[in-house]
Amino acid sequence: MELTYALRSNGAVRGFTADAVSDATVAAVLDDARFAPSGGNRQPWRVAVVKDPAVRATMADLMRPVWYEYMGASAAGKRAFAFGKSIDAAPVEVPNALIDDISAVPVVLAVAADLREIAIMDGNVTNRPPVVGGASIYPFCWSVLLAARAHGLGGVMTTFLSRAEAHAAPVLGLPADHALVATLFLGVPTHQNTKLRRNPVESFATVDRFDGPAFTA
Ligand SMILES: Cc1cc2nc3c(=O)[nH]c(=O)nc-3n(C[C@H](O)[C@H](O)[C@H](O)COP(=O)(O)O)c2cc1C
Repeated sequence: MELTYALRSNGAVRGFTADAVSDATVAAVLDDARFAPSGGNRQPWRVAVVKDPAVRATMADLMRPVWYEYMGASAAGKRAFAFGKSIDAAPVEVPNALIDDISAVPVVLAVAADLREIAIMDGNVTNRPPVVGGASIYPFCWSVLLAARAHGLGGVMTTFLSRAEAHAAPVLGLPADHALVATLFLGVPTHQNTKLRRNPVESFATVDRFDGPAFTA
């Protein structure tokens, strides 16, 4: 697939056919994704390919209340989990196929990052939460999703489980000094959304300063 097309059309996939995905395909996807960049090339990613139905069920049980919290905030017109905002809204119980039918998802990958290998350049230097550390792990996650597409799969990154990391850690055998950064769901898409809604360049790019004039060609 042509790279520009892939970049512009790799929409989130949350519905999968019953087709199984072989370990060979999962291994091939990870083998492509490992070429992702990371600070100092420290490659801090660790991946658990979660097959055990009991482990998956526990993951789902931990994700569900977070999803309800998110939906509660959305229903109240609030931005859930945003910096400086408390949720202050009752959870709303909305079904979520990824969570409720986790046993049927062809591939579930828990992704962790080894914090000892990440340079958190903005750690403890401002009053805001550090974000730069994520740059050493999320390109890998995105590469998994792009590589999956190249192998005829689709998928979605989710971060529900990070809110329940303390409870998920023993279930997944998360080592000390590691963060649970994402759960990736992959499979053969029932539908691949290729028409993505994204803001135009002039809405986010400016000249010289962030308060400068819109950057246009
Ligand atoms: C960091 C991150 C966290 C996300 N968390 C979730 C999630 O918890 N649940 C979910 O269904 N989708 C999640 N997504 C997928 C986004 O909802 C999706 O990328 C976005 O809405 C764009 O959708 P589209 O590609 O179909 O246009 C996440 C994506 C990213 C990059």
